[in-house]
Amino acid sequence: MDDGLTTNKIIEDMTHSVSEVPKILEPQMQDAWNILALSYDKVSTISFAHMAKNHQIAKIIMGLPNDRIVNLGCGSGVLEKSLFNLGFSGQMVSLDNSAAMLRIAREKIGQCPNISFNLFNLNHKLPFESNFFNCATAINIIFFLNQPLRFLSEVYRILKPGGYLLLVNPKPEGNIISFFKAQVNDRSIMPFIKELFRNLLGIGHIFRVIAFQKKLDKMHKDDMIHYSDDDELKSIVKSAGFSIEEFSEIQAGQNWLIKAVRY
Ligand SMILES: C[S@@+](CC[C@H](N)C(=O)[O-])C[C@H]1O[C@@H](n2cnc3c(N)ncnc32)[C@H](O)[C@@H]1O
Repeated sequence: MDDGLTTNKIIEDMTHSVSEVPKILEPQMQDAWNILALSYDKVSTISFAHMAKNHQIAKIIMGLPNDRIVNLGCGSGVLEKSLFNLGFSGQMVSLDNSAAMLRIAREKIGQCPNISFNLFNLNHKLPFESNFFNCATAINIIFFLNQPLRFLSEVYRILKPGGYLLLVNPKPEGNIISFFKAQVNDRSIMPFIKELFRNLLGIGHIFRVIAFQKKLDKMHKDDMIHYSDDDELKSIVKSAGFSIEEFSEIQAGQNWLIKAVRY
């Protein structure tokens, strides 16, 4: 590296500063994610659409300059695992404010010195210096945050010029029924049913995720969380300073994927 620091040292320093950040402000949501973490991970890893989405994003990252990546709202580490499987060799810092999610993510990745998982509330100023990363991912996270535009402006700040943001957000018209339809339609019905039976012991996990998703649908209806439509999403990303290079569907048509560059 040309700045005289090894990347490991940088990650160590960043991890240290992350642990100094004040504890979470939104305890109820944090509790909810901690309780859901195991079920979320189990269902994610049998969901064709979810795994395909992460694999697709990992492939995009592998085609970009990726020596320093930050994953904002990393959940249980499915993207990190996909990258790992593709031979990712850069440095990755992953943040989430659910300790239970991070525990699962760490178990999933095992000893991997170039990926670090850190507890952090993304409603705070991001704990990194400016112009630091060449890629940032924010997958199904901004609608949980108090000020998505402020968050994305922070992401802009920590990216280097020429760095990329990969942003995924749910389409507002999605709901739990269309989600499951998409799961089934994404592959033929038989492998899906077989998978369900193979995981019969885990059926409780599926119900827990359905119940949580139903709560989110209700929160969306009650305006407690807000899923942006395509125009609004593009406008927030542009207002944060990014230029949008691609806007497409992902996760069996349930989510939007934005690939945006910071000039
Ligand atoms: C829908 S999950 C997405 C996880 C992961 N990106 C994925 O695609 O599997 C949302 C994640 O956001 C995290 N989260 C919610 N609010 C957060 C906040 N204020 N700061 C950091 N993470 C947060 C939750 O803990 C959860 O892991």
